[in-house]
Amino acid sequence: DVTAIAALILAYLAGSVSTAIIVCRVMGLPDPRSDGSRNPGTTNVMRIGGKKAAGITLAGDLLKGVIPVLVARYAGFDIMLISAIGFLAFMGHLYPIFFRFEGGKGVATALGVLIALSPQIGLLVSALWISAFIFTRISSVGAIIAFIAAPIITYLYMPDAMLGVFGMSALLLARHKANIKALIEGNERRFK
Ligand code: G3P
Repeated sequence: DVTAIAALILAYLAGSVSTAIIVCRVMGLPDPRSDGSRNPGTTNVMRIGGKKAAGITLAGDLLKGVIPVLVARYAGFDIMLISAIGFLAFMGHLYPIFFRFEGGKGVATALGVLIALSPQIGLLVSALWISAFIFTRISSVGAIIAFIAAPIITYLYMPDAMLGVFGMSALLLARHKANIKALIEGNERRFK
């Protein structure tokens, strides 16, 4: 119905607000799309601008996933529609209408969606991301491990959200193609 379609469009528009690009612009930093890994995301803003800029980027991109899903939950939508709304917020981050469709890889926004869908799923997937990152000091390794596990964890805790989470994870992993290639070649960017 109309409400569902409006909610899906609003979620996509919210996801399209690229925190990385805005933060870099406001703080007078280089455009993350043309510096470092050329990805408008938390990891690359950390390289370009340090912890403060990265922290704001992370918070903004997480909220883009959290807010639409929480609003949808409070509106009483069914779980399939709620996960579709989360998926559209994630798609906005990957293909932002406000920034020539040059978006990021979706890690923070997908984590936000998962946290708002189910704290258990969100925290488990975040814990995997953080552990793998601390262990390897490579951000993409955390993302790849966490989002291979995400559909499996969702299947166990919230099977009805499985389709949306599987879709997000598949696209997120596809967006890491260059990272996977660099990992295989042994030259992926590592934090000191
Ligand atoms: O947040 C995306 C991360 O997994 C990889 O980012 O900049 O190292 O390609 P980057």
